[in-house]
Amino acid sequence: MAAKIIFDTDIGWMNDDCMAAIFALKSPDLEVLGITPVMGNFDLNYSLLCALRLLELTGHEDVPVCRGFDRPLIHERGAYADKVWGKWALHEPVKDFPPGMPRLQADPRHASLFIAETVLAQPGEVTLVAVGPLTNVAMALRLYPEIARHVKEIVIMGGAIGRLPRGKGNITPAAEFNFWVDPEAARIVLHSGSPITLLPLNVCRRSHFSRALYLRIIDPASAYPEVAALYKQYIGPRFDDPELDRREPVLFYGVFDHACLGYVICPEIFTSVRMCVQVSVQPGLDYGVSHGYVKGDYVSGEDALPLESDLGAINVVYDMDFDHLAELYVAAVTGRAAANEL
Ligand code: RIB
Ligand code: CA
Repeated sequence: MAAKIIFDTDIGWMNDDCMAAIFALKSPDLEVLGITPVMGNFDLNYSLLCALRLLELTGHEDVPVCRGFDRPLIHERGAYADKVWGKWALHEPVKDFPPGMPRLQADPRHASLFIAETVLAQPGEVTLVAVGPLTNVAMALRLYPEIARHVKEIVIMGGAIGRLPRGKGNITPAAEFNFWVDPEAARIVLHSGSPITLLPLNVCRRSHFSRALYLRIIDPASAYPEVAALYKQYIGPRFDDPELDRREPVLFYGVFDHACLGYVICPEIFTSVRMCVQVSVQPGLDYGVSHGYVKGDYVSGEDALPLESDLGAINVVYDMDFDHLAELYVAAVTGRAAANEL
């Protein structure tokens, strides 16, 4: 039976979130109950348009899109955020949207309320897949803490665990972008007592979007020509430029968020460890850093490290069989999975 998911995302046009959304929508192993955009890589107004237009172009207009938070709980945008990937809270109307303005309207419910209503209406059945800053999920948990008992699982792309391989940060030396944008929200979610699987940068860095993968997705025999057309138009130019392709033969961020969906579909291809993960909300260089540790690693006591000993352990995924994930992805977005060819 298909796993019921809500996809919470800082989607941009054909960025990794968007490609992951296509994966989710087309996978026969997943039922997308709703998409809940949140600011992050982009301003919320833009993310909302991306989600709505994607549903129109891929034939999934029945999936509700609920507007989420347009800014983090506390973190204010500043010069550093402006210079790097974060474009949250620009609060500017989108004047030019090349994929075409969607006709489809957003669902009137707020993302956090939609998450709460949907999870509580189907106890134990709904998985939240969160691949952007955790603001929407944190506020849903603050409004209805009982979500923690009723959600099947919260599967999160976020954080970077320095004690595990490939654990450097990508926005500051030790912080990962999604957690750094809203560290307070990440803390609320990780402290909520919900069943959580975290896919930090450690595992995502095992993925890459190669030219070979691209060519398989645009296969003329694809059952989803509309999907192939999107990849051709928006991803193709990246690989059609021989100079760029020679210099950087993989799109590094092409498939980060896909790992969360792959985990829901086929957890066997991932390697995990139980860890406590503490997110720092200390202003400065440690802001948004996720520290992972195993209980018993350190002496606890009054003068010991400031570990939060009441923090429950969560499932931290740090490695995967990427070739297998790529097979699941290609099969889903070309319709091969529907034909049970895997
Ligand atoms: O740090 C990686 C995360 O930020 C991913 O969710 C990716 O979509 C990027 O925006
Ligand atoms: Ca993302």
